[in-house]
Amino acid sequence: MAAEKKYSWHKIAESANDFFWQENNLCEIEVKGKKICIAKKGEEVFACTSKCPHAGGYLSDGFLDAAGNIVCPLHRYKYNLQNGRNVSGEGYYLKTYPVEKRADGIYIGMEEAGFFGLFK
Ligand code: FES
Repeated sequence: MAAEKKYSWHKIAESANDFFWQENNLCEIEVKGKKICIAKKGEEVFACTSKCPHAGGYLSDGFLDAAGNIVCPLHRYKYNLQNGRNVSGEGYYLKTYPVEKRADGIYIGMEEAGFFGLFK
């Protein structure tokens, strides 16, 4: 039986303007010791792991294509920021994190490791 994912939510900014956006609308932050790539598309903010699942390219050095996919700077594999799907078709999966804009700021959801890490 698949357990429902449990998230702990961490405030990462007061507003989308608080991030140190690079010209490519990407930046890297650290949450609970994990490096996270943050992306901005219009008014929306997305979060994914900082390194490409292919060979570890730093995604914050990549760019967003017209459809809003993140493109890795190393070999240009593309990933959907909503579900992590490798839309250029190489079969990888990018870990993404849910982002919520709340009245008091922007939060990122990180999966809880479970009771002392025994359960995933
Ligand atoms: S490291 Fe990202 S596409 Fe190869």
